[in-house]
Amino acid sequence: MSEEKKVTMDKIVSLCKRRGFVFPACEIYGGFANAYSYGPYGSELKNNIKKLWWKMFVQDRSDMVGIDGPILLHSKLWEASGHVGGFNDAMIDCKKCKKRFRADHLVEELTGKDMEGKLEEMTKTLREMKAKCPNCGESDWSDAKNFNMMFKTEMNGIEGLVYLRPETAGAIFVDFKNVMDSTRMKVPFGIAQIGKAFRNEIVAGNFIFRIREFEQMEIEYFIDPEVEWEPLYENWLQKQEKFVLALGAKKEDLRRYEHPKAKLSHYSKKTIDIEYKFPFGFKELFGLAHRTDFDLSQHAKFSGQKLEYFDAEKNKSYIPHVLEPTFGVDRSFLVSLLAAYNEEEVNGETRTVLKFPYSIAPVKVAIFPLVRNKPELVEKAKEIFNELKALYNCEFDDNGNVGKRYRRQDEIGTPYCITIDYDTLEKGDVTVRDRDTMKQERVKIDELEKYLSEKLK
Ligand code: GAP
Repeated sequence: MSEEKKVTMDKIVSLCKRRGFVFPACEIYGGFANAYSYGPYGSELKNNIKKLWWKMFVQDRSDMVGIDGPILLHSKLWEASGHVGGFNDAMIDCKKCKKRFRADHLVEELTGKDMEGKLEEMTKTLREMKAKCPNCGESDWSDAKNFNMMFKTEMNGIEGLVYLRPETAGAIFVDFKNVMDSTRMKVPFGIAQIGKAFRNEIVAGNFIFRIREFEQMEIEYFIDPEVEWEPLYENWLQKQEKFVLALGAKKEDLRRYEHPKAKLSHYSKKTIDIEYKFPFGFKELFGLAHRTDFDLSQHAKFSGQKLEYFDAEKNKSYIPHVLEPTFGVDRSFLVSLLAAYNEEEVNGETRTVLKFPYSIAPVKVAIFPLVRNKPELVEKAKEIFNELKALYNCEFDDNGNVGKRYRRQDEIGTPYCITIDYDTLEKGDVTVRDRDTMKQERVKIDELEKYLSEKLK
């Protein structure tokens, strides 16, 4: 086996389409706005990532509970949170070809400078430097303008605009009181949610890295404003990094980026992004913000409700402060693929293998009859398949020779393949082949469940 080859986005995109992880959305209509569908293996992988997260951050902890709130929420919520007034990115149009771009991204690529929020300066820089349009090559720019990224819609019985939530966090804050009243949670505690968020990004791109309809896994962790928050903050960062490692990422591909004080969001006291080394550079994967009491105070103000916590032990009431660890599902999915992707030379041929951590592999076990035209082998294989299917997501494959079936399973990251052959019928054992080592061993059928449960734990 020779050395692993470098992974590129092209390889990932092509594998995803070929093997049913991710497809371009509405392809029969020529595609739609850089949107994607998760296919059969992709939806398994995505669900496994969400399950892993929910287990790690909700079920395994006594200080966390989960909710599942709506996508369409009261518009006042988004006024209170500042999204109606200020959830903007800077857009600029090429007047020649009419294509739209992120002005701040063009400026940064050209000058290396971060001019976020400085619209006039961005326009001036692009014009003075005669920046070429990445689409048509001309240099004829509109003025840079703010563009609000919330999707807007209407709702029967509701006056005015309704927004598709741009982050899951909003639903958590407005449910704070109900969670407090219906559970026995005591500060410090957190509320978690997984769900869709929508942002009318000016430019979507880099596959599923930046899309307009995506999923987030967010936590609002409520703390006493008077406690020392720095150790809690560091602890959350480490937990977030631990989750990336559990997706299979290597530590050296992660780094922290602290937002400079001048660039912090209006609500934040401190924000650190966890960045991952994607093939297109280090980019934000997750974030951790100290949101102070901004959200609960704003919602208390806009709703007229009291959103305080009474601490019986300390005999005091206060509006809790909030630490917000936020995670993107789609970016986690992309990281899991990038980290798993390997190409190896085996006997003069290239084997593409996704070495997913077992917990997130879409299919855990594949079962093959050695040949498909021997009914006794097929019957035995089906029997084993039906038994294991109750325990793991399994796949039955009798197509082509066993070597080809191994390659197919390697490409989707299946940890174990089981072959039923003539010896099986005589001796009651099967061949189990390991994805990573490619080693094979004979295992008795009545010991298979135990064998797999030890291997896959
Ligand atoms: N509540 C805080 C919040 O929403 P954010 O940094 O804007 O913070 C959180 O988003 C995470 O959501 C990001 O770290 C990223 O993983 C994911 N995310 C944001 N915009 C995205 C997009 N357009 N496409 C895919 N994922 C996105």
